[in-house]
Amino acid sequence: MSYPYQIKSFDQYQQVYRHSVEQPEQFWAGIASHFTWKKKWDKVLDWNFESPDVKWFVGGKLNITENALDRHLQYNGHRPAIIWEPNDPDEHHRIITYRDLHFKVVQFANVLKNNGVKKGDRVVIYMGMVPELAVAILACARIGAVHSVIFGGFSAQSIADRLQDAQAEYIVTCDGAFRGNKDIPLKGIIDDALVQCRFVKRVIVLTRTRTPVSMIKGRDVWWEDEIKKVETMGNPDCPAEEMDAEDPLFILYTSGSTGKPKGVVHTCGGYMVYTTYSFVNVFQYEQEDIYFCTADVGWITGHSYIVYGPLCAGATTLMFEGVPTWPDAGRFWDIVDKYRVNILYTAPTAIRSLMSFGLGPVHGHDLSSLKVLGSVGEPINEEAWQWFHEHIGKGKCPIVDTWWQTETGGIMISNLAGVTPARPAHATLPLPGIQPVLVDEQGNELTHEGSLSGNLCIKFPWPSIIRTTYGDHERCRTTYFATYPGKYFTGDGALCDEEGNYRITGRVDDVLNVSGHRIGTAEVENAINMHGAVVESAVVGFPHDIKGQGIYAYVIYGNMHGDENLTRQDISQTVSRIIGPIAKPDKIQFVTGLPKTRSGKIMRRILRKIAEGELSNLGDTTTLLDPGVVEEIISGRL
Ligand code: PRX
Repeated sequence: MSYPYQIKSFDQYQQVYRHSVEQPEQFWAGIASHFTWKKKWDKVLDWNFESPDVKWFVGGKLNITENALDRHLQYNGHRPAIIWEPNDPDEHHRIITYRDLHFKVVQFANVLKNNGVKKGDRVVIYMGMVPELAVAILACARIGAVHSVIFGGFSAQSIADRLQDAQAEYIVTCDGAFRGNKDIPLKGIIDDALVQCRFVKRVIVLTRTRTPVSMIKGRDVWWEDEIKKVETMGNPDCPAEEMDAEDPLFILYTSGSTGKPKGVVHTCGGYMVYTTYSFVNVFQYEQEDIYFCTADVGWITGHSYIVYGPLCAGATTLMFEGVPTWPDAGRFWDIVDKYRVNILYTAPTAIRSLMSFGLGPVHGHDLSSLKVLGSVGEPINEEAWQWFHEHIGKGKCPIVDTWWQTETGGIMISNLAGVTPARPAHATLPLPGIQPVLVDEQGNELTHEGSLSGNLCIKFPWPSIIRTTYGDHERCRTTYFATYPGKYFTGDGALCDEEGNYRITGRVDDVLNVSGHRIGTAEVENAINMHGAVVESAVVGFPHDIKGQGIYAYVIYGNMHGDENLTRQDISQTVSRIIGPIAKPDKIQFVTGLPKTRSGKIMRRILRKIAEGELSNLGDTTTLLDPGVVEEIISGRL
């Protein structure tokens, strides 16, 4: 397969970019024409950022699985769609061709139907990184059900919150998941979540770890038994449901600076076009390349660049069940060597963690198949960039530093591998169709000559932009479209040089980025406050060598009599129970008061500086209700 829309030179990029800005509708119609539509769109784009209301390929009808599967069958059915590497290197890997994957998706789509799932129903998927996770996702898309994948590191309470918010009556899960030397009891966690969610009608359980589970009669069924039922029905066809381009494809929950996580909604047509287009161009995917994205499908990176983008492009996507450091820190390099991986897409936190083991684990692995490296999730520091470039790419592989978000659906700012210039620690230039702009605090666009620094916004819609936050459109408006009217606000700060290269500096709101995972400070505070003896808490980020950002919690504790460390453990366990282990604080400092303004607002700026160790420049503290509290906090700093 060749891609008529693949950009091959810097000149061409500039031309295409110009066209995409001058005539966006014509530009995107041209790209979309390379996909399979059941009915062509009547209008390319309808939009306003006030409501917001954005519609792409209006009136178009399609099914994304026909693009991800059916259309490859004739010429590429024999090609590997998914290569699966198990957690345990001694277990057999699996190679699933496009024909196999199509078969499995159709089969499981029929399982969903037999269990009562209909178009528009929400299906929560809580599984480990097994190929059946991709099968479950695609089977939902096949019948028009809206999937909502929950990362395996979230707790029962987090699952219950999401099930309630999405009003999801169906769940697909596994008995357990292998991750390194751990066996996570997924079904048991689901059972705990369902105590509060009586509306769930069906739980389909795939066997993976053989961990004992309890199955509730009438509610829980085994994946394997359900497949057998479909097999006995004979011809397992399942026609792809006709979906409107703007019908929802999935909900993915993500943290914000306030309240509970919100369900970001993406729709069928625009998401398909944009993820495929960006996949092919950023990574410069060529036929027969083996592409390995190390993310988990529970996050947007896995949705867009393990499942949908690569499969719609007919690519071979490698899915890895385990973790980078098990059984040793050479596991990624082992996989690259074993499958002759050409494109490796990973996260700065993984690179930094592997760097800390030195070069020993890299040696002895043949990495010569690598052509392109990629980074996502947080700003990549120069040291990690250089290590990746020199020791993994052997100085010959372009690194794409891809900036984007759950809400953007696909990569927004990045160099195109080997086509547009790379710069260490810079995401560089916007993709065609993306119109970024920096604004000052008042919302004025920064347009003066020279390099700029401001808040990053996007001023024109792109096909995979967030459509709404599930069940609460107003929240979508206030979070993303109200801060700077007429623009989508990313929540990130950025620098931009004279040539238009962007360098993302990080969040400017109260959202933390811990190991590339987004965590809201308010969410962690709420979880800490659930601990019976906690009076109040304030959470900020601090620089962390491996995680990028660590979680620093200041806690006012009721009556501290016992061992402080035991209390810390207790608080951490509470957070783990309410959100999941990923949100556990790295440091908990007990304080007797928090710096507050006279109106009662916590001065996070001061707490952030103390956590970062920047004690000399705390700014004006005279407006505080009790300036003395700052001294106390500094002296107790961890
Ligand atoms: O702060 C930015 C950071 O990750 C945030 C988005 O997080 P999430 O929705 O979980 O998606 C992560 C994977 C796309 C952004 O607001 N971020 C992501 N990629 C980069 C980045 N920061 C700097 N450079 C990047 N390449």
